[in-house]
Amino acid sequence: MFETGTYIQRREQLRQQLESGAVLFLGNHESPMNYPDNPYPFRQDSSFLYYWGLDAPGLAALLDVESGEAIIYGAELTLDDIIWMGPQPSLAERAERVGVTSTRPAERLVEDLGRMRKQGRRVHYLPPYRADNRLLLAQLFGVDVNRVNDGVSESLLTAVIAQRSVKSDEEIAQIEQALEATREMHLLAMRQARPGVVEREIVGKMTGVAISRGGQLSFPIIFSRNGETLHNHYYGNTLQAGDLVVCDAGAESAWHYAGDITRTIPVGGRFTERQKAVYEIVLRAQQEAIAAVNPETPFRDVHVLASRRLAEGLVALGLLKGEPEAIVAAGAHALFFPHGLGHMLGLDVHDMESLGEDRVGYDAETRRSGQFGLRALRFAKRPRPGYVLTVEPGLYFIPALVEKWKREGRFPEFIDYQKVETYLDFGGIRIEDNVVVTESGCRVLGSPIPKSIEEVEAQASE
Ligand code: GLY
Ligand code: MN
Ligand code: MN
Repeated sequence: MFETGTYIQRREQLRQQLESGAVLFLGNHESPMNYPDNPYPFRQDSSFLYYWGLDAPGLAALLDVESGEAIIYGAELTLDDIIWMGPQPSLAERAERVGVTSTRPAERLVEDLGRMRKQGRRVHYLPPYRADNRLLLAQLFGVDVNRVNDGVSESLLTAVIAQRSVKSDEEIAQIEQALEATREMHLLAMRQARPGVVEREIVGKMTGVAISRGGQLSFPIIFSRNGETLHNHYYGNTLQAGDLVVCDAGAESAWHYAGDITRTIPVGGRFTERQKAVYEIVLRAQQEAIAAVNPETPFRDVHVLASRRLAEGLVALGLLKGEPEAIVAAGAHALFFPHGLGHMLGLDVHDMESLGEDRVGYDAETRRSGQFGLRALRFAKRPRPGYVLTVEPGLYFIPALVEKWKREGRFPEFIDYQKVETYLDFGGIRIEDNVVVTESGCRVLGSPIPKSIEEVEAQASE
């Protein structure tokens, strides 16, 4: 947990962005796996963590915008809790740690909000993404559960997104801590991706690294010899010599900041010539994209730049034909690059996605495209210094997509389907790093993780 003053300052900054009323923050609850007392690992809500710091289930908090009063609602420990879970600080002690002197039993929330509503005071809240908090909001505000989102506060969303988007130095240090564990996970994966190993054996060990370093995974690991499936969560394949494995994985720091790195590994330690050629295209696109990130350039333009570099490479390989600029403008390259170049990163791996992807990544200057590929870009606007973004181009050969586009006769002027069909067993390649935007460019976060062909081969054959 950060210093007490950090939480006080964050709440004060938020207050100043809002005109009146009070802000309600709902923390997360335990979430049952198969019966109530057998929960998934607890993960606190990220906005709750950001403003209130407390990493425990069953809490809520209210910030009075006008008076500045801050109250944390929760249950005091019972003797039963102590018997089953051990001695713990009281709610008041925990609240004091984050600069809050007023605590109340959770049941008081209904009464306090009822009074505020009778007084005609606005209660701002963020959109819920878990069913239990959606139900709680319906109860607290006396509305139908399907109408809860109608009451979400746009001014609160705007203020929270603006504040959480700019990472402080201490937040960057947390992301870099997450990246240290993430790096160790990737080095392990490179060393252990050998013929005969089943994917889950490596996934299990990588998970162990994250936990042993004091965090959890920041998202379910993607580790697959079928890397053309973008978010592949199946780990049952046995690795074979000549396979490429897409390894997209990250740990959280102990205070829940995320790392999100992708490397692509040749099983057995050596890329084939065909793999090298495609890998170099993705690597060059990624490096040029990183060099192009700065506060002056909309990230959408960086996505387009990376797309052009990918298209140029595919033209050189004979998979695409024509002018790269025209290919990208038409969207034909998205057959091989159907996702966006990157997204914000912070307390969430897709930072603040629960607050609305378009609100986070788009603005008046940048509207989301409807074009296949470009429409998957999560972040398009000009980044500001302190924003943390991922840069993650990739090339994939997705048999079902190739078959569909060919059948529909899409872009015959740009795509050599006959040649593409000789790559249908290729899989995919993605390379992803995390950067913080500076005044004039960006800095890649964390210690370097092998990325060039030589570096990856050296690590993979250790
Ligand atoms: N790890 C998921 C992503 O890169 O978006
Ligand atoms: Mn990733
Ligand atoms: Mn990512």
